Amino acid sequence: MEHGYELLKACTNFFADFIIFSLLALYLCRLHLSPYRFKKDPVVKKSLKVFVKTYGCQMNERDSEMILSQLQCTGYELTDNEKIADVVILNTCSVREQAEIKALGKSGYLARKKRTNPNFKIGIVGCMAENLGEKLFKLNGAIDFVVGPKRLHELANVIEGNGPNLCIGDPEVRCPTHGFGRKLGKNQCSAFLSIMQGCNMRCSYCIVPKTRGIEQYRPMQDIVEEAKFLAENGIREITLLGQIVNNYGGRLMPMVDGKTPFVQLLEHLNALPWIERIRYMSPHPKNFSDDLILAHKNLPKLCPSVHLPIQSGSDRILAAMKRPYTREKILEIVEKLRSAVPDVGISTDIIVGYPGETEEDFEETVSLFDAVKFNMAFIFKYSPRAGTKSADLIDNVGDGEKERRNQILLQRVQETSSYYHRKFLGKTVEVLIEGHAKRGEDTMFGWTSNHCKVLVKASENNIGRIVPIRIDGFATTILSGTLVDSY
Ligand code: SAH
Ligand code: SF4
Ligand code: F3S
Repeated sequence: MEHGYELLKACTNFFADFIIFSLLALYLCRLHLSPYRFKKDPVVKKSLKVFVKTYGCQMNERDSEMILSQLQCTGYELTDNEKIADVVILNTCSVREQAEIKALGKSGYLARKKRTNPNFKIGIVGCMAENLGEKLFKLNGAIDFVVGPKRLHELANVIEGNGPNLCIGDPEVRCPTHGFGRKLGKNQCSAFLSIMQGCNMRCSYCIVPKTRGIEQYRPMQDIVEEAKFLAENGIREITLLGQIVNNYGGRLMPMVDGKTPFVQLLEHLNALPWIERIRYMSPHPKNFSDDLILAHKNLPKLCPSVHLPIQSGSDRILAAMKRPYTREKILEIVEKLRSAVPDVGISTDIIVGYPGETEEDFEETVSLFDAVKFNMAFIFKYSPRAGTKSADLIDNVGDGEKERRNQILLQRVQETSSYYHRKFLGKTVEVLIEGHAKRGEDTMFGWTSNHCKVLVKASENNIGRIVPIRIDGFATTILSGTLVDSY
């Protein structure tokens, strides 16, 4: 009897230990299995509050998410109130001079906070950090650390003082997967997904290859895993990011069945449950191959919306910019896209006033605008960037003339955008509701698959859902409508 009791006790102890051990092992595995997990209960060991301000493009927005996640996991408290922050990080852009002036001005303004809070820290990260490096400490002596976009995974160490306060250039091991975390917002249903870093082109005006380095592609499987993680956490729309997304894989990944690696990736993502929409930016006209056009026709989740940066409509200027395509090629892509995907939204980037751009060159851009009828365009006035090829040329188109050309194109795109949006009047469109609009509690905003913004009166329950909306109003770049009855 006594022996039986001992045996029962030993068995109970064994099972209790086994269960505790298994639970512990499972917990540890969960922490390590997914590189995208953010810890639920970060240890707040420093009680320092961090605020990150983001300038520039979507890559920077995505990088800022990773910075926030990294710092939260290392024990910082995050705040969206700059006034109470102990550490302010400016994630900067260098693409035009104005972008740098803005961030430098902000760092000057922040310097005053050091008088009242001696522990207050200012960090410059991102493209301007890489571009100006050590010079930044001379421009503003209050800056505490400078970290380039290729070294962001070292940021927590740098803030701690466990490394030099200038951290730029290529790291020993470049963070290849970019998978050191992400922090999703409450109710977030759309997310950026980085598929590559850097750029191998040498467009004469562009600073990006200097700031972001050469092209590096994430393994396809990693991207798909991250998309699955996003889907499991409420994301319904992903936007693939890269300087030239349709060069994904370059020569390192093989074509399969005549399909480029980028299209192969789109097919894998299209097959994932819960992901309902896929977007990408930016593609390069040079690589806009027929398999991508076919993908737009065949993959139901690939949105009928393409941002195609053309920069100029003049072949002479395109050649000077080292953009390896012609206006004919642009017209050909647009025609193929429009016949494959009716109502496809096409937007672009343009630079006006590139050195040597004559009135005739500019008229070529205007006539390309008239032919394509973009539904949106970002028009930039040329800004010389030290270290680029075109910085050696005389910036001979004056500010006034650049502004005039800018206004002419803006006027054109307003007309074509109005025309495009008006076509939806009276139609019912599918809209992914993203959140509250600025104009009142009960007004929500969302996007159609062809990237038109829509305002609608609806309840918060609709956030993250794709709902049918009948369009009954439009302005140049925005639609408004009514939720169709059953919703
Ligand atoms: N990789 C993308 C562009 C990234 S930069 C592409 O190749 O299309 C974003 C935009 O900034 C560019 O499309 C271009 O229109 C603009 N831009 C880049 N350098 C510029 C400069 N020096 N002056 C004015 N605009 C510039
Ligand atoms: Fe810059 Fe040209 Fe590369 Fe785009 S493709 S990032 S414009 S160098
Ligand atoms: Fe983006 Fe500006 Fe850098 S456009 S890649 S943040 S220079």
